[in-house]
Amino acid sequence: MQLRRAPLEDWLRDSYFDARIDISSSGVEPYSMAELFELTGLEPRHLAEVTFRDSRSCGAPELRSAIAQRWGDGDPSRVMVTHGSGEAQYMVLTTLLRPGDEVVVVEPAYHTLVGIAEAIGCTVVPWRLRFEDGFVPDLDALASLVTPRTRAVIANFPHNPTGISVDAQAQRRIVDTARAHGAYLIWDSVFADMRYDGHLPANPAMEYDRAISFGTFSKGLGLPGLRVGWCFAPEPLIDKLVVMRDYTTLALSPLVEQVALHAVRGADALLVPKMELARRNLSVLDSWMAEHDEKADWVRPHGGVVAFPRLRGVDDEQFCDRLMREHGVLLIPGRCFGMPGHVRLGFGVPTDQLRDGLDRMSRLLDETR
Ligand SMILES: Cc1ncc(COP(=O)(O)O)c(C=O)c1O
Repeated sequence: MQLRRAPLEDWLRDSYFDARIDISSSGVEPYSMAELFELTGLEPRHLAEVTFRDSRSCGAPELRSAIAQRWGDGDPSRVMVTHGSGEAQYMVLTTLLRPGDEVVVVEPAYHTLVGIAEAIGCTVVPWRLRFEDGFVPDLDALASLVTPRTRAVIANFPHNPTGISVDAQAQRRIVDTARAHGAYLIWDSVFADMRYDGHLPANPAMEYDRAISFGTFSKGLGLPGLRVGWCFAPEPLIDKLVVMRDYTTLALSPLVEQVALHAVRGADALLVPKMELARRNLSVLDSWMAEHDEKADWVRPHGGVVAFPRLRGVDDEQFCDRLMREHGVLLIPGRCFGMPGHVRLGFGVPTDQLRDGLDRMSRLLDETR
């Protein structure tokens, strides 16, 4: 299996550490351990209680239950806790897919959602979100792409990099489309908690026995460096994932699980201030977009903390490269998502940093023409 390079990660690899201002990230500003102590009830004594034994293959029972209660139907048997949702995606996709399988994938997409299927040798059928259509997912187009040959439909809402999402009715149609042909539905819901209409989408894995959903501590909960995520999957599939885990990572660290458990219990305390900030920042971005309407246009995001504006007449890669080199501001070129001309702009940072980053973008835009 030959994985292609991930342009997004290549772009971030060094700049992430060197940037003065990061307006690229799909996650909120990360929390520190001190803030976790303050917000979640985690105490140093909880860490002192940890013994460094191996943990269980699917994750600590209390943690699985807490995840199942918050994001599922309370049944922990369909939950596997993983090293980021990235590990869950890798395990699920390599377990379910075979060379020659046809998979319908939303595009643009975060690289794992399409790259793993490609590396396996699947035929990838893109379900495109088009800027000209306001990135509105075309459900009729999806219905025509999914056929009896389709092994899986792979979707991600709220979506990276556009920030658009689907309402409950559209989500039901996507589930029904997959179900009509017995296709697996691979549902990346890492931004599920981060919608601006306050609506918490249903978890399709609770509705359809061939649906698998992913979640993470890396986005709205502000803990990307904890490296914990999860999947909800049918139990027979979880059994297969356990076999794969026996050959790879075995289990999570009990230290990390202890922190994660308190983070789930205090999830609202972590999430709410970050989303309030994101909401305020979105109005800063509204103003910036209005001021620059001759140079940039966009689709206002429904969830998450990224937008995917188009900068008219600008080479996205050169622009982001100069912004980083000359201003220390990190932004992602749309080319990393196969859409040159756009940039992925993260607005989960403190407002003064967002304003500073946007000012520097304005200056560079003025110089660029
Ligand atoms: C859509 C999407 N899915 C999955 C991931 C993986 O996140 P993690 O492995 O940190 O849970 C990311 C990270 O940016 C993402 O944007």
